[in-house]
Amino acid sequence: MTAIVEELRRGRNLPEAALKELIECADYDEELFRQADEVRRQYYGTDVYIRGLIELTNYCKNDCFYCGIRRSNTQAVRYRLSRQDILECCREGYALGFRTFVLQGGEDGYYTDDRVCEIVSDIRAQYPDCAITLSLGEKPYESYLAFFKAGADRYLLRHETADETHYRKLHPPEQKLSVRKQCLWNLKKIGYQVGSGFMVGSPYQTTENLISDLRFLQELEPAMIGIGPFIPHHQTPFGEYAGGTLTLSLRMVAILRLMFPYALIPATTALGTIHPQGRELGLKAGANVVMPNLSPVKVRRLYELYDNKICTGEESAECRGCLEKRVASAGYRIVTARGDVACKSRRE
Ligand code: SAM
Ligand code: FES
Repeated sequence: MTAIVEELRRGRNLPEAALKELIECADYDEELFRQADEVRRQYYGTDVYIRGLIELTNYCKNDCFYCGIRRSNTQAVRYRLSRQDILECCREGYALGFRTFVLQGGEDGYYTDDRVCEIVSDIRAQYPDCAITLSLGEKPYESYLAFFKAGADRYLLRHETADETHYRKLHPPEQKLSVRKQCLWNLKKIGYQVGSGFMVGSPYQTTENLISDLRFLQELEPAMIGIGPFIPHHQTPFGEYAGGTLTLSLRMVAILRLMFPYALIPATTALGTIHPQGRELGLKAGANVVMPNLSPVKVRRLYELYDNKICTGEESAECRGCLEKRVASAGYRIVTARGDVACKSRRE
C-alpha cells in the first residue's frame, strides 16, 4: 500500500492504472491521508490561511447545468452588492484579521471593467497589506489585465472538468472548455496567482475524467486548487442527481497535496455542507485554507449554488470564531498572514 503513495509523493508521474487504483480503492486512504498531512506540515507547518469571501452578485449570464444561480433559474432572487457594501465587508473582515479578500460572483454585466477596477483600486488603497482575489468568471485578456493593474493579485477560475465530452454534459454549447482553459493561461501570463479546480462527483464524471483533471493541473501548475463535492440544487437540471461523496472528495484532496505539495488547497464550504466535520477532515487530508463568508447576512441565503449551504445565517464574527475552534480541533492553527503560495522547493 505504501509504495504507490510514496511514488506519488516523490513526484513520479504515476501511470494511468496506478492513479486509477488510488482514486477508486479505499485501501490506500490511511496511508494517503497520513503522507498528505506530513507533506502539508513540511511546506506549511500547521498554518491554515483564511480568506474572506464576499459574494458580490448572484446574477449570471451563464447557464451551467449544476449551478443554482444559473440564468435559467427564474426562481432565484437576485441581488448585487454596491461598492460601499463591498468596502464595508472588507472593513469588517480586516478587523477580524482577514488579509485576503475574495470577490466572487456570477458573470454579471453590471460589473463592467471600470466598476471592477474602481472597487479593486479602492480596496488596494485602503488595505495595502491585503491580497485581493477575484473570481468573476471568464473575461477577455484586456479585462484581466486591467483588474491586475488596478491591484488584484489572484484569480480563481475552476476549469470544472478538463475533458471535452464531460464539459459538454455539464454546460450548454455556448460555454466552451477551450475558452475557459485559455482564460487560465491568460491569467497566468499576466502574473496572477491562479487558482483552478473541479467538482468531485459531478454528473457523468468518470475516474478517467478525474485523471484528466490531474493532468491538466500538472500542465497549468496553479498556485491554488479548489475542489469540493458536487451538491445538487433542486432548481437545476441536475436537481435529482447524486452528489459527490465525502470519501472521494477527501481522497482527491490528499492526492492533490501529494502531487502539488506547495499548493494552497481550501477545505471548501461544499465539503462542510455534506458532512458536519467536512472541513476539519479536509484539513487533515492536506487542505490548508478556509474561506469563511464575509458577505452581508441579508444576501447570504441568496448566493445559493447548491442546496443546504452552511453558514448562511451567521454574522462574520461568529463564523470567524467558529472556524477558529474547528481548525484548532483538527490540530491546526489559523494565521492572519496574506498566505501567499509556498516556494515549490521549500521544505522546512
Ligand atoms: N462565476 C465564477 C466562475 O465561473 O468561476 C465564480 C462563481 S461559480 C458559482 C463558483 C464555483 O461554484 C464554480 O466554479 C463551481 O465549481 C462551484 N459550484 C457551482 N455549482 C455547484 C454545485 N451545485 N455544487 C458544488 N459546487 C458548485
Ligand atoms: Fe461559518 Fe461555522 S464557519 S458558522
